[in-house]
Amino acid sequence: MASKLFLTKSMTKLMEETQDSGQGLKRALTATNLTTLGIGAIIGAGIFVLTGQAAAQYAGPAIVISFIISGLACAFAGLCYAEFASMIPIAGSAYTYAYATLGEFLAWIIGWDLILEYLFAASTVSVGWSGYMVSFLKDFGIFLPTNLTAATGTVLYDVPGVGWKPMTDGLMDQLAAGGILPESLNHVTSLINMPAMFIVALLSALLIIGIRESANFNNVMVIVKVSVIILFIAIGFAFIKTGNWHPFIPKNTGTWGQFGWSGIFRGAAVIFFAYIGFDAVSTAAQEAKNPQKHMPIGILGSLGISTILYILVAIVLTGIVSYTQLNVSDPVAVGVDAMGKSMFWLRPIIKIAAIAGLSSVILVMLMGQPRIFFTMAKDGLLPPIFSKVHPKYKTPYVSTLLTGAVAMVIAGILPISILGELVSIGTLLAFAIVCISIIFLRYKRPELHRPFKTPWVPFIPILGAGICILQMLSLPLDTWIRLIAWMAIGFVIYFTYGKRKSKIQLESKSGN
Ligand code: ALA
Repeated sequence: MASKLFLTKSMTKLMEETQDSGQGLKRALTATNLTTLGIGAIIGAGIFVLTGQAAAQYAGPAIVISFIISGLACAFAGLCYAEFASMIPIAGSAYTYAYATLGEFLAWIIGWDLILEYLFAASTVSVGWSGYMVSFLKDFGIFLPTNLTAATGTVLYDVPGVGWKPMTDGLMDQLAAGGILPESLNHVTSLINMPAMFIVALLSALLIIGIRESANFNNVMVIVKVSVIILFIAIGFAFIKTGNWHPFIPKNTGTWGQFGWSGIFRGAAVIFFAYIGFDAVSTAAQEAKNPQKHMPIGILGSLGISTILYILVAIVLTGIVSYTQLNVSDPVAVGVDAMGKSMFWLRPIIKIAAIAGLSSVILVMLMGQPRIFFTMAKDGLLPPIFSKVHPKYKTPYVSTLLTGAVAMVIAGILPISILGELVSIGTLLAFAIVCISIIFLRYKRPELHRPFKTPWVPFIPILGAGICILQMLSLPLDTWIRLIAWMAIGFVIYFTYGKRKSKIQLESKSGN
């Protein structure tokens, strides 16, 4: 009985599905589209929000090393993804790879886990988008009602010279230094985060209209964000004061994770979020023109370009401003301020780049999620309605609508901190399973045609899985509890629905 949980989907069947154009999705994406899709999903809140905080709190200028460590772990996982994506170019990403290697039950676990990654990442980043948008509109004298701009129940304080902010330890210290009591400030309790909900709704509508339209929008957003990042790097180099890099690795404070080498590793775990997204390329395999050749280019190309940009931004940012000043939600803008008054024109441009960057991340995450639902429904693990393709637009519109609706609610009511760590733990788990599956399949099915091969197997996958597991262990206990609760819900759905309706389970029964 238990062995039925480990039934795998045959490679022949998977390959037939690849050829089957009757699935209805449109093959419209080129290698360049796939690479920009990856960059679209990768560069976002991680670099525009988290880098400064990780440098200020954990690693100092050595955040550059954190970026290299985290980038390396993602490169190992990326190589494994590339092998699978070229071998099994189906829309379901790691879910499909696990189905072919580790069996249905683990495939379900990974599929359910990917839902956590994409759905929650879309919501997380839309909360960041809301923050940047509110601040951008404010620069133009447009003020949104404060109680409609943050997670439900968040108390926002009108801080003199700063504006409406939720209370943090840092802000409390700052106010205390000025002799101000938080209670003495004007404050409101937020009802809902409307801008975050708005952007999710808008991008879901775009995704329903068409994959090509969505890819075009993504291309424009990627051009904007990448050009502005390159501009920041190029201008920033002239403003570097090498004194800011000394000490490059600030001395550990005595607490694990606060500077020194442990701080570098903690910083790496935090900015791992910045790399999430290259795997989303693999969810679009069924819409790629030549998936076997172009998927590895899309995955590894987008990861490589983003890694180089991240390392350069980290070098420049910690060079123009002391890391101690970077514990803010807009560190790149603080970097521009440090360049002096003559560079103030760059400020709104940085905000536009952040808004463009975050929009493309939300878009690709909202695109990935329905495509996983789509494949799971095709396999019978979810109700068939999830695999419905729109007759005119050729997009999985029912699952896109559902994803958008749920992501909207989450974005409207939850704060960014809870969401971000949940996304990281979910993604790390998916990466670890993909790395392990590569080793497994090399031994189990060595004869399969692999247009792209991960080098140095089993070392690269072992290192990839090992670093991912270490990073998971560095996340807090409550994040683990949320992951376990999410998985428990998944088990209930699998055993009450998926297992009974699964196509391969039904086939194996009728074969008996
Ligand atoms: N890597 C994506 C970001 O940083 C999720 O926003």
